[in-house]
Amino acid sequence: MTDLLTGGTLRAIPQEPALTTPASRPPAHDSTATVKTIVAQHATTPGALLPILHAVQDALGCIPPEVVGDIAQGLNLSRAEVHGVISYYPHFRQQPGGRQVVQVCQAESCKAMGADALMAHAAQVLGCGVHGTRADGAVSLEPVYCLGLCASSPAIMVGDRLHARVTPQRLSEIAAGLGVAA
Ligand code: FES
Repeated sequence: MTDLLTGGTLRAIPQEPALTTPASRPPAHDSTATVKTIVAQHATTPGALLPILHAVQDALGCIPPEVVGDIAQGLNLSRAEVHGVISYYPHFRQQPGGRQVVQVCQAESCKAMGADALMAHAAQVLGCGVHGTRADGAVSLEPVYCLGLCASSPAIMVGDRLHARVTPQRLSEIAAGLGVAA
């Protein structure tokens, strides 16, 4: 099954680096150079925008507003077109997130198995709201829409590690492992 967000197979076994983010954003000139390199690497790839956005976020921890113009220029798109894609997908962020990202699946199968309550519990034990980041920058909490573990719902992903059949108690244990349990 093709994932419109990743442009590839749903990531039951993630192929990408951890979704950790740097503690601080690189200087703007470094960000611009990084983005221009990434755009050049994908410039001839059909449908390059999504792979570029993923690569930029992996490299910088977010897609800073100041690099949207570089991406648009490199792909001969308008800033509005690029911004529209960034804002459409909850995965993409324009501000730096936490050093670890906890994603709680909110798609149908997980919803049927208590994902709403699990998300509320996550917000409580992690000490930040949905789409939020702890004040100390340790963790961000994000929804995600199917992790490919529907038969083992509810599922979450912490960094690049998947967790299936997650109970509130298990989530508390995971939070404790991150050193942020309330
Ligand atoms: S619906 Fe949650 S993993 Fe598929």
